[in-house]
Amino acid sequence: MRIVHVIGARPNFMKAAPVIRALSAYPVEQIVVHTGQHYDVNMSDVFFQQLGMPAPDVNLQVGSGSHAQQTAHIMCRFEPVVLERKPDVVVVYGDVNSTVAAALVCSKLMVKVAHVEAGLRSGDRAMPEEINRLVTDQLSDQLFTPSEDGNRNLEREGIAPEKIFFAGNVMIDTLIRMLPEAERSMPEGLPSRYALVTLHRPSNVDDLDWLASLLSSLERVGHDLEVIFPVHPRTRQKIASLGESALSNGHIRFLEPQPYLNFLGMQKNAAVVITDSGGIQEETTYLGVPCLTVRENTERPVTITMGTNVLVGRDTAVLARELTRSLSQDRKKSSVPPLWDGHAAERIAKVIVGQ
Ligand code: UD1
Repeated sequence: MRIVHVIGARPNFMKAAPVIRALSAYPVEQIVVHTGQHYDVNMSDVFFQQLGMPAPDVNLQVGSGSHAQQTAHIMCRFEPVVLERKPDVVVVYGDVNSTVAAALVCSKLMVKVAHVEAGLRSGDRAMPEEINRLVTDQLSDQLFTPSEDGNRNLEREGIAPEKIFFAGNVMIDTLIRMLPEAERSMPEGLPSRYALVTLHRPSNVDDLDWLASLLSSLERVGHDLEVIFPVHPRTRQKIASLGESALSNGHIRFLEPQPYLNFLGMQKNAAVVITDSGGIQEETTYLGVPCLTVRENTERPVTITMGTNVLVGRDTAVLARELTRSLSQDRKKSSVPPLWDGHAAERIAKVIVGQ
């Protein structure tokens, strides 16, 4: 059996690593295709090293562009790879442009698609990832959900129940495997108490007035609590466009995007995390660290119903109020969702190889 994995952007690497590892227990041939959606060393290469992933067999080197350009370039460059390598199944991950592009190519070539992290829905079609999720799930033959809300969403959209597998969370597989090492190699110079921030969604960083007011709120937080902010490249470009001084703000410590192990250690020890990422909502829930999500909605509702996550929307007063609450005794109680147990990838591998 020949299996092609398609990865392209930072969150894919943590999801693919455990699936590739679990499949290597079977007599299968695995080929890793990197689309090149993320290409900076600290957005891509460093993850392969730290996660012990095989170097990609093929790199499509598509780079950045508008959504249409990026998706189209991936499709044009991936189609010949599928025609040449003739995989039995192509595994796609999450909700990035690389995911939907690969699923579209395979469905037209009648090649089976397995989607890891299927069924998540924010209900918000203004998010490019929501479009990617909807389309990828319609085209996939095997859909692996991280939580049971995913099964319900897929059934509601008319996906045949026999295609849907509640497998658990592969990102948490990686977290559980890497946490001991992350704790042994904590980044130096971290304060004892700090808020950890990441922001990169278009809804937060493309509207410069909102970005400026978010930064002022974070600056106010920085008067009481150190604020550490590893900055995604697109966010860095936007902050820089607010003016020279925006990135040398004395109350926020801006860092480069962090390698996986560093960032995991930083999350584990944070007093609170403020983010708009999808994966970080899950990781903080597993770690029991309060998470304030600067979005109006989430495709990961289980992190709210069971976990530490609180949506603060687009309201800096709510952010301030929830921040105070999450640092107090009154903070939200939480637990770890079902099947976030470190074995999701093994369950997925079993289904893919048909055992
Ligand atoms: C993508 C995903 C998003 C995910 C995020 C994680 C889509 C639609 N979005 O968003 O779901 O949460 O990755 O990071 O696929 N850039 C660099 N170096 C890089 C990569 C990007 O400088 O290695 C800059 C470029 O200016 C680029 C911009 O970041 O135009 C945006 O990158 P892109 O891959 O288009 O989307 P992300 O915002 O990273």
